Amino acid sequence: MNDKDKKINDTKVVLSVKSISKNFGGLKALNNASFDIMSKSITALIGPNGAGKTTLFNIITGFFKSDSGKIILDGKDITNHPTHRLFANGLIRTFQIPASFYRMTVLDNLMAVPMNQSGENLFFSLIGSKKIKNEEKKIYEKSIEVLDFLEISHIAKKFAGELSGGQKKLLELGKVMMTDPKVVLLDEPGAGVNPTLMKKLTGFIKKLNKERGYTFCIIEHDMDLISTLCDPIIVMAEGTVLASGDIEKIRSNELVKEAYLGTR
Ligand SMILES: Nc1ncnc2c1ncn2[C@@H]1O[C@H](COP(=O)(O)OP(=O)(O)O)[C@@H](O)[C@H]1O
Ligand SMILES: [Mg+2]
Repeated sequence: MNDKDKKINDTKVVLSVKSISKNFGGLKALNNASFDIMSKSITALIGPNGAGKTTLFNIITGFFKSDSGKIILDGKDITNHPTHRLFANGLIRTFQIPASFYRMTVLDNLMAVPMNQSGENLFFSLIGSKKIKNEEKKIYEKSIEVLDFLEISHIAKKFAGELSGGQKKLLELGKVMMTDPKVVLLDEPGAGVNPTLMKKLTGFIKKLNKERGYTFCIIEHDMDLISTLCDPIIVMAEGTVLASGDIEKIRSNELVKEAYLGTR
């Protein structure tokens, strides 16, 4: 194996969730939840409704504060950091395109994604430096490349508000790609998506993972989807991690079966 292959195959813990707990009033939404996400993995986070999956995403991304525990991203403690800092640190989750962006074109939507660009900086804007021109050019070129990757170049000039549901999903993924994320969190990407579009989305997720080394953590219910896309699978129930491993291991786990049957 030469050095280049070695680098491609190397994986490490990129995101570490350590003993996170969260109460809402008297309700224990999370109770010492812990797991690691390996770089270049497509990890599934599954579990019955109310298991605490979305709450955990909200804590990882800084929307909610945890009561205790730590979140480590790439060796850095990011516990309870506000969302915009996580964004700059390379942790991102998809969001619906806000209505205020509907009157902007697809291309402008991509170009508006804040990267660590000095164009945002008033000082540089005032002096209109060459640096800004160069960065704008870079952002433009990157947007074009993202459109090409997602096979939506033909809708670059369309307003975001005119897109079909499927095209909107692809634009959301495109916005994620603009940030070169370390870890992409997806909360039920299959919800409200028809099977044809889902196939397309999973194709791009696989391609981003294989060709560009993207790491994904995906909350999903559809076991067919999970089994074709994800490895490993982490199972949560009642605010804590019950089991993790590949699909065979999870399917044969008695605790997991019980949790889904609601007999615990
Ligand atoms: N903002 C909130 N306020 C109060 N309770 C909440 C809030 N968010 C989630 N919960 C509760 O926390 C538990 C875990 O919810 P959630 O994280 O959405 O589970 P999952 O995504 O696994 O279905 C549930 O009992 C839910 O009702
Ligand atoms: Mg949820």
